[in-house]
Amino acid sequence: MTIDVRSTLPGEFRQAANAFSIALLDPPPNDERWARSLPSWDETPSFSAWDGNTCVGHASTFLVDTTVPGGARLSTSAVTRVGVLPTHRRQRIGTRLMEALIDDARQRDLVLASLRASEAVIYRRYGFGVAGEYAAVRIDPSRVAPVRGATASGSFRILEPTEILDVVAPLYERVAHQRPGRITRPLVWTERYLRAAIERTEPSFVVVHHDATGRPDGYAHYNVKWNEAAPQMPTGEGEIHELLAAADDVELALWQYLFDLDLVASWEASERPVDDLVKLGARDPRGYQQISIQDEQWLRLIDADTALRRRTYNQASGAVVIRLSDPLVQANNGSWRIDADGAERTDDVPDLSVDIETLSAAYLGGPSWVALAGTGAVEATNREALATADTLFASRPLPHCGSFF
Ligand SMILES: CC(C)(COP(=O)(O)OP(=O)(O)OC[C@H]1O[C@@H](n2cnc3c(N)ncnc32)[C@H](O)[C@@H]1OP(=O)(O)O)[C@@H](O)C(=O)NCCC(=O)NCCS
Repeated sequence: MTIDVRSTLPGEFRQAANAFSIALLDPPPNDERWARSLPSWDETPSFSAWDGNTCVGHASTFLVDTTVPGGARLSTSAVTRVGVLPTHRRQRIGTRLMEALIDDARQRDLVLASLRASEAVIYRRYGFGVAGEYAAVRIDPSRVAPVRGATASGSFRILEPTEILDVVAPLYERVAHQRPGRITRPLVWTERYLRAAIERTEPSFVVVHHDATGRPDGYAHYNVKWNEAAPQMPTGEGEIHELLAAADDVELALWQYLFDLDLVASWEASERPVDDLVKLGARDPRGYQQISIQDEQWLRLIDADTALRRRTYNQASGAVVIRLSDPLVQANNGSWRIDADGAERTDDVPDLSVDIETLSAAYLGGPSWVALAGTGAVEATNREALATADTLFASRPLPHCGSFF
C-alpha cells in the first residue's frame, strides 16, 4: 500500500476534516458545523495523507505571530488538526505530515512553529519542546478577597452580544502581548472562544474595564452555572475563560469584580499562567489552589538564527556559546555566541550543546538551563556557563500562550 502525503486541495477539505474528527474521537462535522468551519480551512496551509481515494491523515497550520522576550513578534506556524485514522497509525504517516509542515514553514520563511499537544509523548521527536505551562486552579472568593493591588479606578461594563467580537478582538491584541508566548489570534479563533457569549447559548459573559477616560483596558470572559446539589440552597459556580488587562492594577480589579459577584461561591479556570498575579495579591493565598500544572505551549525554532537574534537577553557577567543540532532543518546546525547585547553565529568552542527540542523549550525563558542540564538535555563544559545561560534567557512574567488551537 502506498500512502500519498501532499497538500490538500480545497475540494478535499471536508474529507480531511472527517478523517481528523475520527482521529480525535469526534463525530465528523454535520452540514451546519461544516459551513461554520469552512472559512478557517480556506486560509490554512493543509497537508493530508491518502490511501487511494480515502483521506487517512491530516495536519494543518494557522499563520500567526508569537511574542518573544523583548516584545518582538515572530512569524509562527501554529500547527493544528493533526490526526491519522486508527486504521493507519504507526506507519510513519504522522511523521510524514509533521515533516511536510516543518518544511512548509521553512519555505515560507517562518521563524517558529507552535502547537498544543493532545498527548505529551508525540512531538519531541519533531524538535518541539515545552516552552510554557499552565495551571488549572480553583478559587474560593471568600478567602482570596479583598485582593491587594486591585486599585485601578474606572468602570466596568458587561458587553452586549452584538458588540463582543468588535470590542474583544482588538482589545486582546492590545493587552495580551505583555507575556512571551502570546500569539496573534485569527478572528475565527476569537469567534470560537466567544461563541457561547455571542449566541447566548450559555450563561456566558464578557465584562470590560474602562479607564478613567473611558478607554477599554482589560476584560474577563466567564461562565456561571447553578450547582443544584449544593447543601441548603443552590450556589453559583463560576468558570473563567480569560482575564487580560493592560496593567497589573486593572488585572487585579477585574479579579476583584469577579470575587464580588453575589451568589458565586467558587471559581475555576483551567488554563491560568503558573505565576498568576492574583495569587500574590490574595488576602489568603491558600484560597487560590493550583490543582494541576501541565505543558501548554510546545515550541520549535524553524529559523534558529533569526529567533535567537530577535529576542532580547538580560544583563549577565559574560557570554555563553551554545551549539545546536537539528536533524530536520539543516540550516539550524551551528553555534551562537550570546550575551546581553544579543546573539550571533560563531565558530568558537561551545560551552553548551543542545538539540533543537531543548533550545526550543528554553527559548522563551521559562525552563532553567541548570535544571535541563540536570536531566542530561544540555551538555555543559562548565556549570558557570549554565548559570550565565539562565541569567541571559530568564523571562518574567513566565511564558504563557492562552490560546487553544
Ligand atoms: C498522533 C498521531 C497523529 C500519530 O500518527 P502516526 O501516523 O501513528 O505516527 P507515526 O507512525 O509517524 O509515529 C511516529 C512515532 O511516534 C510514536 N507515537 C505517535 N503517536 C503516539 C502516541 N499517541 N503515543 C505514543 N507514541 C506515539 C510512534 O510510536 C512512533 O514512534 P517510533 O518512531 O519510535 O516508532 C496519531 O496517533 C493520532 O491521530 N492520534 C490521535 C489524534 C491525536 O492525538 N492527534 C494529535 C493532536 S495534537
